[in-house]
Amino acid sequence: MQAVVLVGGEGTRLRPLTLETPKPMVPVMNMPFLERTLRRLKEAGIDDVILPAGYLPEAITSYFGDGSWLGMRLRFVIEATPLGTAGALKNVEQFIDGPFFVLNGDVLTSLDLRAMLADHQRTGGLATIHLIHADDPSAFGVVVHDSSGRILDFIEKPPRDQAPSNEVNAGTYLLEREVLDAIPAGRPVSIERETFPALIAAGRPLYAYTTDDYWIDLGRPEAYLAAHRHIFDNTMPLGVVPGVDGPGRDAVPPSAVRGPIFVGNGCRIAPDAVVGPYTVLGDNCEIGPGAVVADSLLWDGVVVGAGAHLNTAIVASRARIGAGARVGAGSVIGHGVSVPANTQLAPDARIAATAS
Ligand code: GTP
Repeated sequence: MQAVVLVGGEGTRLRPLTLETPKPMVPVMNMPFLERTLRRLKEAGIDDVILPAGYLPEAITSYFGDGSWLGMRLRFVIEATPLGTAGALKNVEQFIDGPFFVLNGDVLTSLDLRAMLADHQRTGGLATIHLIHADDPSAFGVVVHDSSGRILDFIEKPPRDQAPSNEVNAGTYLLEREVLDAIPAGRPVSIERETFPALIAAGRPLYAYTTDDYWIDLGRPEAYLAAHRHIFDNTMPLGVVPGVDGPGRDAVPPSAVRGPIFVGNGCRIAPDAVVGPYTVLGDNCEIGPGAVVADSLLWDGVVVGAGAHLNTAIVASRARIGAGARVGAGSVIGHGVSVPANTQLAPDARIAATAS
C-alpha cells in the first residue's frame, strides 16, 4: 500500500514559525510533525510514501533522506511552482501503482487507517474521503452524502447558516489510481474545489467515511497550541506521561515543575523558575531565575531571561526573551528573535527577526 503526504504548502498562517521551518518540520512534542505522520503510516502497514514538496524542501529532505532509518521508502518530488492539492498528485503519477492514501501534511488525527481501508474495500468506491463533525462547518469543505455514504455534493466553506450538514472534509483520502485520470496535468488543481466536485458531477462513486476521531489542522498558531494541550490531556493519545515527560525530565528541578510539561535534552532551569502547565521545552533551553513559562511551546535553544513571563506563547528556535520581559498571550516569536529586557509585548504579537 502506498501513500502520498502533501508537504508543499507555504504555511502562511503559521508565520513567522514557517519562515525558516516548513510546516511538516514544525515540532509536535519535540518531534517534527511529519515524522509522527510517517510513523503512523508505518504502524498501519504503509511504508512506501511519496512526498510532493516545494516550500523549503531541503529542510525536509535532509532530515528524512530516503527513509530507510524509519524502515520506509520515501520519495520526494519537488514542485518548481505549487501545483495545488490535486496537481501535486498528478505530478507523482508515475510512482503510483494502485490504490493509495493521500494525507494533508498538517492534520493530527487518531483516525485508524486500516479501518478506513476496510471501508473503502467494502463500498468499492473510486474514492473514500474521511469526514469529521465540525461545530462550525463554515471554515471547511462540507460534504453531503446519502444513507449509504455515497457523496452527493461538496460545498467549500459555506456561510454557517447555509451549511447543509456539519460533516466536513478531514483531509485524508483513499483513492483508486483512476482518480489521477481526472486531474489535468501541468497546472495547479485543487482536489477539494475541482477534482472531487467534477467526479461527483460525472456520477462517479465517491464515499464518505465519517468518524468521531480526534482531529485538528495544525495550520494556525492557536490550533498548534491547542493540539499540545489535547496531547497532554490524552484527548489525542500520543503516550505522553502525566507530570514531567520528555528525554530531559530528570534534569528539571522539581521546585520549578507545574505539570504537565515535556522537556527536551540539555535544558537548564533555575530552581525558582516556574515551568508549566501545558508547556514544552525543546532541547537546550535555558529558563532563568524567577521566570515563568506557562501554556507555551519553546523550540530548541530558547533562552528566557530572569523574571521574564510567557503565557500561551510559541517561541521558535534560538530566540531570546530578555530579563523581565512580558510576552502577551497568543504571541508567536520567530527564529533567533531577541526580545529586549523589560519589553511588554501585546497579546497576539507576531515577531520575526529582521534581516541584518
Ligand atoms: P497556509 O498557507 O497557511 O494556508 O498553509 P498551506 O500552504 O499548507 O495550505 P493548506 O493548509 O491549505 O494545505 C493543506 C495541505 O496541502 C498541507 O499539507 C500543504 O503542505 C499541502 N499543500 C497545499 N498546497 C500545496 C501545493 O501546491 N503542493 C503541494 N505539494 N502540497 C500542497
